Amino acid sequence: MVKQLLFSCSQCGTNFGKWSGQCDNCKAWNTIVQEVPLSSGPRNSSIGSARGEIIKFSKLSATDKTPERTLSGVKELDRVLGGGLVDSSAILVGGDPGIGKSTLLLQAAARFSRLGLDVLYISGEEAVDQIRLRAKRLKLQESPLKLAAETNLRNILTTLDSLKPNLAIIDSIQTIWSDNLDSAPGSVSQVRVASHELITFAKTRNTSIVLVGHVTKDGQLAGPRVVEHMVDTVLYFEGERSHNFRILRAVKNRFGATDEIGVFEMTGAGLIEVQNPSAMFIGDRDKSTPGSAIFAGIEGTRTVLSEIQALVSPSPHSQARRTVVGIDGGRLATILAVLEAHCKIQFSNYDVYLNVAGGLRVSEPAADLAIAAAILSSKQGIVLPLNTIIFGEISLSGSLRPVSQVENRIREAKKLGFKGAIISKGKKKVEQSLIEITEFEDINAFINKLSLK
Ligand code: TYD
Ligand code: MG
Repeated sequence: MVKQLLFSCSQCGTNFGKWSGQCDNCKAWNTIVQEVPLSSGPRNSSIGSARGEIIKFSKLSATDKTPERTLSGVKELDRVLGGGLVDSSAILVGGDPGIGKSTLLLQAAARFSRLGLDVLYISGEEAVDQIRLRAKRLKLQESPLKLAAETNLRNILTTLDSLKPNLAIIDSIQTIWSDNLDSAPGSVSQVRVASHELITFAKTRNTSIVLVGHVTKDGQLAGPRVVEHMVDTVLYFEGERSHNFRILRAVKNRFGATDEIGVFEMTGAGLIEVQNPSAMFIGDRDKSTPGSAIFAGIEGTRTVLSEIQALVSPSPHSQARRTVVGIDGGRLATILAVLEAHCKIQFSNYDVYLNVAGGLRVSEPAADLAIAAAILSSKQGIVLPLNTIIFGEISLSGSLRPVSQVENRIREAKKLGFKGAIISKGKKKVEQSLIEITEFEDINAFINKLSLK
């Protein structure tokens, strides 16, 4: 029988009958690669020839067992996991190369093993000596963790089956290959098969699995997105190489909230937890410059203050530039459109650069007012009130909408020594005794009061 060729997109996993330059599904260029089909023939697809087993069903009311969890003691990690590591769960940790995934997982693995869990750390990227060297640097050489360097899926599964560990860390999924397939390690089908087999193992044998995955430049996990669908939890480890802050973010979690972040600092002796990230993200407040606004945001269960920085300058280009880091570009476009339409402030001849200091990412609409304030402050060269936080959502009509958890935001600001808050007017009266609060109902009132026009 002639083996049929199969092509699939390494970004979204869609299969095609022939090669083409662009993926029809996700529109990415040069991502379609040739794959070897798993196996062909009727036995995969027909009902008749090989009978399956009848599935057992159970009642919804019958299961009242909550999954067991183990706390690692690394608070920032436990929080992101939704309160510790869930038994027999599958976790994917993604991030850019060199961001610190291996460091984080080696430290976490050492913690878990010291708590009495049987932990395996299987690396397909580094030799055992190299990992040992790293462990020494992290002062973890005494932990009872088991190390191995292996890339063969069959060997890994056989080992897991015989040792039955509580937790196995596979660093990274892109280096693992199955000898059932002809394609190279890292290819779509290899990543898919290896993940599937490892996750199935986790689900049936009471072992938790952590898969490490590399992320491409545009922020997607290299290899098919299907891995993200297969696991229970997807964590991203992000940060800028030039900064020491690292943020662990849950983007999917079947056992907890997805808006939690864990903040770490990369030091010479590994990653250390940052218990109070606000103090770190806002830096030196006394020397404020135009274009800087402090935003009090909610990240999961805690309040994090961050500095939003804007630079607005006359554009030499025919089409003005919009550059954002840590904020959605669409959000910036909306805010600029509102400022143009309702406040008659022109930006078409200005380049706008917007950035959240420290590598944090802000996605709450509550940041709108702080973003607008930073932009106008830079455009007019006016310093915003010192020691003051700003938050509020801007609606398309130019009015300011109330935001949630006002008291929490204000309390965090007070804790850090802030004296004032400029916020959108809410229905509930805010307690004035905390700090001086100025409320606005629409963006024009805010601009006039602060003379930002
Ligand atoms: P690593 O965990 O190897 O990244 P990944 O697995 O995501 O590719 O981290 C590598 C970087 O971390 C490297 O640039 C050196 C730095 N690092 C420290 O700064 N301190 C440390 O204690 C360790 C172990 C690494
Ligand atoms: Mg690594």
